[in-house]
Amino acid sequence: MKRGLVIRPFEAGDAEDVRWLIEEAFGGPGEARLADALRENGDDVLELVAIHERQLYGHILFSRLRVETRNRSADAVALAPVAVRAESRRTGVGSTLIENAHHMLREAGEELSVVLGDPAYYGRFGYSHTRAAKFESDYQGEALQALAFSPEAPSMGELIYAPAFSAL
Ligand SMILES: CC(C)(COP(=O)(O)OP(=O)(O)OC[C@H]1O[C@@H](n2cnc3c(N)ncnc32)[C@H](O)[C@@H]1OP(=O)(O)O)[C@@H](O)C(=O)NCCC(=O)NCCS
Repeated sequence: MKRGLVIRPFEAGDAEDVRWLIEEAFGGPGEARLADALRENGDDVLELVAIHERQLYGHILFSRLRVETRNRSADAVALAPVAVRAESRRTGVGSTLIENAHHMLREAGEELSVVLGDPAYYGRFGYSHTRAAKFESDYQGEALQALAFSPEAPSMGELIYAPAFSAL
């Protein structure tokens, strides 16, 4: 599948296909609504699609996350959702989306990405719970993982997600 796979930014015309893909991947409308709301509210930082022979095979979205301490509010990004068409999983589409996105985020000067998910999967891309263990969050636990793109990235403080997450 990696051969001929094109990773490009989300375009308005992708919205319906993306909604369908995410609903199918998660077995319900919650995450698709989340992606729509993040985009509508302008909280999306990076949104990419994976296309093969004009068909949508994967999608990833990073939204603005703030890390607040008493003296400082730092920008970070939250990875959610990421989805790949069921029949094409484990062929590298998810990895290609994540690795391309990380490269672009680093180039754009982002310092920190946070994800809530399976450590067996996200550990491959450098995410770790150790890096996220000192953050205050309702989602605190082994599934909360972080990846620093810069040595200056915050390592403690309260994680403030975009408002759309509270509807999930
Ligand atoms: C999670 C998801 C995006 C991964 O996409 P994918 O295209 O299948 O991932 P890749 O093919 O790049 O997988 C890379 C590696 O991780 C492994 N892997 C894939 N999903 C995994 C999982 N859930 N747990 C552990 N390892 C996993 C693959 O076996 C592969 O290993 P290999 O290179 O040794 O074969 C996809 O399974 C999906 O859409 N799932 C449903 C939605 C979802 O759960 N999203 C994430 C929410 S946190």
